Amino acid sequence: MDVIALDDPTEAQIREWHEVLSAVHAADPAGGPAPDPEQTARLLGPEPGSRRRLWAAADGDRMVGVAAVRLPGEPGAGRPAEIDIQVRPPLRRRGLGGRLLAAAADGLRADGRTSVIAQVFAGTPAARFLERYGFECVLTLRGMLLRLDDVPPERVARLLAAAPAGYRLVRWHGVVPDEHATALARAKHAMADFAEVDGTPWDAHRVRETEEVVAKRGDDLYTVAALSGDAVAGFTEVVVPHGDARRAAQYDTAVVPEHRGRRIGIWVKAAMLQWLAEARPEVREIETDNAGDNAHMLAVNEELGFRMERESMEYLAPVDALPAL
Ligand SMILES: CC(C)(COP(=O)(O)OP(=O)(O)OC[C@H]1O[C@@H](n2cnc3c(N)ncnc32)[C@H](O)[C@@H]1OP(=O)(O)O)[C@@H](O)C(=O)NCCC(=O)NCCS
Repeated sequence: MDVIALDDPTEAQIREWHEVLSAVHAADPAGGPAPDPEQTARLLGPEPGSRRRLWAAADGDRMVGVAAVRLPGEPGAGRPAEIDIQVRPPLRRRGLGGRLLAAAADGLRADGRTSVIAQVFAGTPAARFLERYGFECVLTLRGMLLRLDDVPPERVARLLAAAPAGYRLVRWHGVVPDEHATALARAKHAMADFAEVDGTPWDAHRVRETEEVVAKRGDDLYTVAALSGDAVAGFTEVVVPHGDARRAAQYDTAVVPEHRGRRIGIWVKAAMLQWLAEARPEVREIETDNAGDNAHMLAVNEELGFRMERESMEYLAPVDALPAL
């Protein structure tokens, strides 16, 4: 079987890629809804602020495994790359995953990257696979789901009415308005999960860049923030995917340290639920990932009605340790 780089995938190759993702999902559907062809096409397409490299393993004309690497920033940027490898279930344990990883690792070295992150579900072969190649688990995430039909509107109304004194709510759809961009970047420093692994400082430019990625995919970003004067004391973000909008995704939520302990986190989340009910009634569920040790955020989500679904892990490897083709 050959591993080939797909620098500019054709429509047929994108369809085949989608079939690999669908076959992997069908064998283990617990991770969420089946991939959608348009979403696959967008995932393989360009993205502002980062580049993507793709490899496929082919058995004759048939695609049997895929590897996608996301390279944020410029070549040689200190930021870690992200990798995702998927192999059709009947063809596993034949070295295909390892060969795709080696091809991708050569691509990472050529781009001057020093580290790479992969996110995988707990209890799947992926953890053993990554550990075999020198990846280490750096973060455990609890996947939680909120079924909006299970949330009584009175609960949302009660939480909203309990507004902390001295704060006001603002909200926006899409990229942050200029007046709040720097304040939002400051609040993003309060996030204690991915930012720690990534290590890149948040500024207004990076905030906009991240939000433009969502817009470019065709997805809708909703943000609710609690302001103290002009400062963002806390905020929450939800993304409603283009296409099947039934399941939205919780993005960042954070409360700046000096404003913690005043129920700002649950207040902004309740305001988000009310906004979505008005603006996007087709949203039926919201999924979220929380660091397993983030007791406050887990408590907020449990109080809102989120229930545990599935644990996942973030793995990190030094690129030097990865195999070469
Ligand atoms: C993870 C995945 C890509 C591995 O693909 P693969 O083609 O089976 O991997 P390989 O055959 O190259 O495995 C290489 C080594 O990894 C380890 N490994 C892989 N699967 C394993 C399993 N189920 N149990 C224990 N070890 C495993 C072994 O050391 C294996 O070598 P060996 O077969 O000689 O013992 C595949 O299981 C998959 O597609 N999973 C679903 C998607 C996913 O979660 N991707 C992870 C994101 S990076």
